[in-house]
Amino acid sequence: MTRSAPTVAVGPEPSAAGGPQQAARWARQTAAFAEAASVIARETELTTVLDRLAYEVRAVTGLLTCAIILVDEVTEVLRHVGRSGLPDDYPTRVEEARRNGAPMVTLDAYRARRAMVAPGSRARVLADPRWAPTQNIVQDNEWDTFVAVPLIVRGDAIGVMTGFSPGGTDPSAEDMQFLQVMADHAAIAVDNSRMSAELQLRAAESERQRLARDMHDSVSQAIFSLTLYARGLELRVGEPGELDRAELGAGLRELRTLAQEALSEMRSLIECRRPVELQRRGLVQALEVLAESTARKTGLTVEVHSAVERLSLDPQIEDDLFRLVQEALNNVGKHAQARTVAVDLLADGQGGLAVEVTDDGVGLREPSGVRAHFGMETMRERAGRHGALLTFGPGVGGIGTRVRVSLPAALG
Ligand SMILES: Nc1ncnc2c1ncn2[C@@H]1O[C@H](COP(=O)(O)OP(=O)(O)OP(=O)(O)O)[C@@H](O)[C@H]1O
Ligand SMILES: [Mg+2]
Repeated sequence: MTRSAPTVAVGPEPSAAGGPQQAARWARQTAAFAEAASVIARETELTTVLDRLAYEVRAVTGLLTCAIILVDEVTEVLRHVGRSGLPDDYPTRVEEARRNGAPMVTLDAYRARRAMVAPGSRARVLADPRWAPTQNIVQDNEWDTFVAVPLIVRGDAIGVMTGFSPGGTDPSAEDMQFLQVMADHAAIAVDNSRMSAELQLRAAESERQRLARDMHDSVSQAIFSLTLYARGLELRVGEPGELDRAELGAGLRELRTLAQEALSEMRSLIECRRPVELQRRGLVQALEVLAESTARKTGLTVEVHSAVERLSLDPQIEDDLFRLVQEALNNVGKHAQARTVAVDLLADGQGGLAVEVTDDGVGLREPSGVRAHFGMETMRERAGRHGALLTFGPGVGGIGTRVRVSLPAALG
């Protein structure tokens, strides 16, 4: 790195030279481009790619060093992400010089978004105390002319490719063109790696949301039932009079069953397994098992009717329908004060499938309390994912609540 002045801005300028030497040069450059493209494609580790690019740059241009540096757009802190021909401690020393306020062609090229060449850099670095952190290294090497080529991504500079050449051998216009192309390769590699990190984050976020939804519809409700049941037992134990040991034993067994169910739900979510019954026996039978366990936990009468003869649905639709009905039943148990609830699968005769959960309770109530309510929101998401229509309304004869989800063309 050197002081800013004097610098020469370099633009593309085709070389007039020809002959076998030129042909050999082009061959080397082409091989370097091919290597750059292939290393970008095959390597996943960004520093490995950029170190390799820096190595190729030195091999083809005869530069003594090559560094690929990212510049923080706010603080302008320099981060060496690829290098060749530079000592290990050089990056920290350069960053120290930047903090000292040393004038830098690296930053000039970054800010101006164009390539720059600064001959006589060695003398300027050695004469400027702000460059003290790198002076020993520069002293020991033949570095003299400094070049800096910006890394541009979609019109914005994100960093700089830099290098030193020995005194009296300034890089040719052709070298600069080559550096520009290699800087473009480096910029692509950095951009790819940032995008893939962002994609990974988004994938992780959507996986987290999926888990949260499934936990809400299954495990948290199972634990809710468990809490209610335990509270019931606690009240009974607190009542005056003789303890009915048989009744207490049966209550504790039920508690254990509920806890085991919650545990196995949790395990299958963690292992990303589909609900076991759904996987083994399809939607209708899985709903029957669900109905039976809801009846046991809540004391409701739960019926499942299917008017659809053959049901072969996409597994993701099945999963979402199952979870949606599960939450609708959870809501009946928690809010409806109903006696019976029916789950109906209906075909509309035109390939459409409707699933209804109808209770005979108090009717849809406004949510109470200050805590968040996720159930209906999650049902909407599950329905929306498959282009299904979800409605909430009164049940038979205006009594209770009916949740209806209808999927056009689900039956093929
Ligand atoms: N079958 C129903 N009968 C009466 N009210 C209902 C019924 N289903 C839902 N509700 C009302 O709609 C509200 C919102 O339901 P939702 O499932 O979104 O939240 P929640 O069940 O209160 O909480 P969460 O599902 O997050 O545990 C409920 O709080 C309740 O007042
Ligand atoms: Mg709910």
